[in-house]
Amino acid sequence: MNFKNILVKITDGLATITINRPKKLNALNSATIEELSTAFKILEDNATIKVIIITGRGEKAFVAGADISEFANFSTQEGEKLARLGQESLFNLIENLSTPVIAAINGFALGGGLELAMACHFRIAADTAKMGLPEVSLGLIPGYGGTQRLPQLVGKGKAMELIMTATMITAQDAKQWGLINHIITQDELLPLAEKIAEKIKRNSSIAISAAIRAINDNFKDGVNGFETEIIEFGDSFATEDFKEGTTAFLEKRKPNFIGK
Ligand code: COA
Repeated sequence: MNFKNILVKITDGLATITINRPKKLNALNSATIEELSTAFKILEDNATIKVIIITGRGEKAFVAGADISEFANFSTQEGEKLARLGQESLFNLIENLSTPVIAAINGFALGGGLELAMACHFRIAADTAKMGLPEVSLGLIPGYGGTQRLPQLVGKGKAMELIMTATMITAQDAKQWGLINHIITQDELLPLAEKIAEKIKRNSSIAISAAIRAINDNFKDGVNGFETEIIEFGDSFATEDFKEGTTAFLEKRKPNFIGK
């Protein structure tokens, strides 16, 4: 895969996407959003990819937000289009991807950067990382799902405070809030993400996809996640992985899942 603003490395069923604009602190311009969207679609269509990690190049930033220079002169219509296109083409795409996506937050995750991390299935961070949604300090509000996903992850009161104050929280605070799952040194961040990915890879990818759909349905208006769980649970019985998983257990051996 050849991109200008991102790097994609594939090794043994694991894809690592690195946002590669370190001089601009990996700010999300429209070209980067388009490339990320293309990359995620290609990786999703590749059945050999079992886990995706997304991170930022350099030690300073995961992503320091949407690229402010691109929208400084936008009108109401252009602003709405920017948010809608970004949400539909990238942030919702990631959230609903059937391949697990881990955000490895290596530095600043601000604005669109934190929104990108929040669209991933879960997050881990370097102990140097800082997170926030500073949009109101620019006279804006978060536009890539931040007002919706932050309260889902940390609760309404904390989300209100973080957004209203436009302040940054440390990785330690983010862990305490439940925004990230693990904190680790910068050097150990990707190795930890890869270690978690290895654990995920051992399991049935078709069952994992079903679990992602059921969990996500908990947060969708007018959708009954319990009902989704019942249907997906039933569907699991028709998969080859179910037969393999239960047979392997009974035969006291490790399962060899094929993701079907
Ligand atoms: N959009 C566009 N460019 C950005 C950017 C963004 N969101 N964040 C950083 N950059 C650029 C800077 O303009 C600068 O470019 P330059 O060297 O060509 O002038 C470069 O990245 C380095 O950033 P700089 O501000 O010099 O680094 P710093 O260490 O002094 O500060 C931050 C780091 C993260 C505190 C600061 O860059 C910042 O506040 N960024 C914007 C965060 C934000 O509001 N995001 C939400 C956007 S909706």
